[in-house]
Amino acid sequence: MTSFDFFHVSDDERARAAAHARMAASEAALIPDIPADTPLRPVNRVAVIGAGTMGGGIALSLASIGIPVTLIDSSAAGLERGLARVKDLCATSVQRGKLAQAEMDQRLALITGSLLIADVSDADLVIEAVFEDMGLKQDIFRQLDAHARPGAILATNTSGLDVDAIAAVTRRPQDVVGAHFFSPAHVMKLLEVVRGAQTAPDVIATLMNLGRRMGKIAVLARIYPGFIGNALFRNYTREAHFLVEDGALPHEVDEALKKFGYAMGIFAVHDMAGNDVGYQTRKAQMATRATDRRWNDLILKLCDQGRLGQKSGKGWYRYEAGDRTPRRDPELERFIVEESARMGLPRQAIDEEELIKRCLYGMVNEGARLLEHGIALRPSDIDITYLTGYGFPAHHGGPMYLADRIGLPQVLADIRRLHAQYGHWWQPAPLLEQLVRDGRCFADLQPER
Ligand SMILES: NC(=O)c1ccc[n+]([C@@H]2O[C@H](COP(=O)([O-])OP(=O)(O)OC[C@H]3O[C@@H](n4cnc5c(N)ncnc54)[C@H](O)[C@@H]3O)[C@@H](O)[C@H]2O)c1
Repeated sequence: MTSFDFFHVSDDERARAAAHARMAASEAALIPDIPADTPLRPVNRVAVIGAGTMGGGIALSLASIGIPVTLIDSSAAGLERGLARVKDLCATSVQRGKLAQAEMDQRLALITGSLLIADVSDADLVIEAVFEDMGLKQDIFRQLDAHARPGAILATNTSGLDVDAIAAVTRRPQDVVGAHFFSPAHVMKLLEVVRGAQTAPDVIATLMNLGRRMGKIAVLARIYPGFIGNALFRNYTREAHFLVEDGALPHEVDEALKKFGYAMGIFAVHDMAGNDVGYQTRKAQMATRATDRRWNDLILKLCDQGRLGQKSGKGWYRYEAGDRTPRRDPELERFIVEESARMGLPRQAIDEEELIKRCLYGMVNEGARLLEHGIALRPSDIDITYLTGYGFPAHHGGPMYLADRIGLPQVLADIRRLHAQYGHWWQPAPLLEQLVRDGRCFADLQPER
């Protein structure tokens, strides 16, 4: 059997991948039990709670389609910073010639600040974007329940918390929905709309429609840790980190990923985003997590050493002042080798094909689970999520499309091999096994229009 070539894609195949992406983008709008002509709720005024990174970008996205927004923060300093950031983002767009000055002024005039949550009272839609903390979000939703007008849509921008547990603190769970924007929210094309157990169909239809009006691709997901996008991403990053413990160095993984087609490797991405993202949550989970499987804590150790990424001048790479170019760092590489020894892992050379398989197939396997449990409606929804929100190389058409192209029997054979070698995380998804037994592929699960 000749092995699949991950690194060369013919022009014909690129064209087919592009056609698949176009199909995926248009299919994502279709929801089997919600007719396209479902009457929408009005969205004439929006309140955004939390004037941080996400809140500001979301407010700008809304203002760009002429919707007035009240940006609400509990801290005066937070609000001021948030409004200043929105102005800066607009100014940058003007400088880059993407926006005319008059248009910028118009957009900014649509965004007003407030320190009072009671100011949600005239909003048709409220989007909560405070810190990722269940207790805090529930507290906000209790207040929204008290102040929002009847019939207002109450959305949370959580990256992966249980939307039902947030809805449960209100007397109107039918109005509660997830609206997962990506950073920077005024630029990124993806919007994951998260359907809770009780979310009303017209709430979903309205948000999907609003996403499209903002020029985004809205994809529907059910509740699951990390929904569609971050669920797959967890598998991707976990394997990348295990690869480093097993013998590859960060730049080797990143170079293979770039050769595969990513604009940036995962370790350079971590350094850009900040290695401390999620640090507290992960530390808190360590005490109670399952002990029958392997975990990766290297990134926590990097944080403990002050290796936060670009912002601290070192992370998985080192950086020179005023320069974002990742450079290999012998000190870090020594530390990684020592950590492998400490864990009793014999470091081995890992070729680039295997690096890609381990980064990719964990995502494919998880994607099969999402389909089996109805978290994602169709394989192409997973593909378009990855193409628009996670920088998956366009010429590969998305992880599920690529898995079909490789051939599911080959993908499953590798997953079984990895399961035998590494255990728990590689347990093959039952749906993937079923498809292979039936001689079918993911595309066969795509509902007929
Ligand atoms: N940053 C990202 O890349 C990203 C991407 C997708 C989703 N998210 C999610 O978006 C949400 C916000 O993330 P962020 O990165 O914008 O956070 P952030 O820390 O930049 O901003 C949070 C803001 O919420 C404000 N706030 C805190 N408590 C408040 C309260 N009680 N009432 C009003 N405002 C309050 C803070 O003052 C702060 O301005 C989180 O749930 C996060 O998981 C973040």
